[in-house]
Amino acid sequence: MVGNGAREHALVRALTADPAVAAVHAAPGNPGIGGAACLHDVDPMDPAAVAALAVRLGVGLVVVGPEAPLVAGVADAVRDAGVPCFGPSAAAARLEGSKAFAKEVMAAAGVPTAASRTCDEEDQVAAALVEFGAPHVVKDDGLAAGKGVVVTDDTAAALAHARACLDRPGGRVVVEEYLDGPEVSLFVLCDGRHVVPLVPAQDFKRVGDGDTGPNTGGMGAYSPLPWAPDDLVDAVVATVAQPTVDEMARRGTPFAGVLYCGLALTARGLRVVEFNARFGDPETQVVLARLASGLGGLLLAAATGRLADHPPLVWHDTAAVTVVVASAGYPGTPRTGDPVTGVEAAEAVPGVHVLQAGTAWRDDVLVSAGGRVLSVVGTGPDLAAARATAYAGVAKIGLAEAQHRTDIAAAAVQGRTSAPVF
Ligand code: AMP
Ligand code: GLY
Repeated sequence: MVGNGAREHALVRALTADPAVAAVHAAPGNPGIGGAACLHDVDPMDPAAVAALAVRLGVGLVVVGPEAPLVAGVADAVRDAGVPCFGPSAAAARLEGSKAFAKEVMAAAGVPTAASRTCDEEDQVAAALVEFGAPHVVKDDGLAAGKGVVVTDDTAAALAHARACLDRPGGRVVVEEYLDGPEVSLFVLCDGRHVVPLVPAQDFKRVGDGDTGPNTGGMGAYSPLPWAPDDLVDAVVATVAQPTVDEMARRGTPFAGVLYCGLALTARGLRVVEFNARFGDPETQVVLARLASGLGGLLLAAATGRLADHPPLVWHDTAAVTVVVASAGYPGTPRTGDPVTGVEAAEAVPGVHVLQAGTAWRDDVLVSAGGRVLSVVGTGPDLAAARATAYAGVAKIGLAEAQHRTDIAAAAVQGRTSAPVF
């Protein structure tokens, strides 16, 4: 496992629960991952170092969690060293690494997405903002750790964000039409040709309750989506995932790994908001909490072009909710170094498990070491029960001036989320 977040902790937890997996190693991992896997102090951004570690350990599969190592070519280096790797090549990871490239692929594949203009100059941006009108959507073309998108009614703020992106060497922005409607994340496993969808989830990107404040990497998630249309997964596979995988193969850069389809269900139909080339965080935490069949063989099948032969996935008939506990200051500069308590007490609550992200050991004390610190997961027979369980777990956590949202999955539980009929 390459990475050190709560998503990687969720993946490691699911892999260690799979009887087909003998052992799990992580580079570099974190204190929570260290409870289940052997940790190696290897830079996840160094393709040669990751490949050398995989060869030295003789592992049967490398799983790359975050996008930055994928864009840096870690999966290519691992495969070149003869080790199967779950994660796209650098060329295929451009679906996430460049929003302009993703738009070009979607246009070629006929995939429904927001109308957009890719701009190198400020006057192109100004023209596109007029063309699409408010609310304005301005996206940094490159990777920005979830902070590259500004959605605003304020034209001056939209232009200022564009200027900041354009001022960087090689800076480009994508300006697009605003998509109105509930968002869904669907992870689709791909082996270059075939696709296997997981179950949909919804995440909460804004830092504050009621979707207020700045965007974050994600403050919580839930699955299933009781309000979503029954044919949603089939529709995403047919109109989004398979055409995209076909187009990437046609270009000679087949996509193998997980295609994260970020979607908006608008009155005019489903539209792609974004593609990512890796599992989402925190949606992975809730999706994997519901997966009953083994993860190891599934990821290996995707990595080795054998998804078509893989048996159907089995899902628990349960719901899962995760609430992220973040440091004070996040998503700005987070306060770190504070003791984190209550992880064991939270896990003593039936149906709770705690996944770690920004944590570290200081002597023998678990301390905060990043913006998103923990992802507390609750499972239950339905969404209301899973939500109550997750918050019962959060109540056990101690972290000075921590912040968490109190409304994760609340609207869905109360029947306040609905999908347009199309
Ligand atoms: P992205 O990094 O492209 O997923 O954008 C981050 C978030 O910004 C998305 O999850 C949406 O909430 C919002 N967003 C992005 N594009 C649009 C759009 N065209 N219309 C409305 N909201 C958007
Ligand atoms: N959940 C948002 C992301 O992983 O980008």
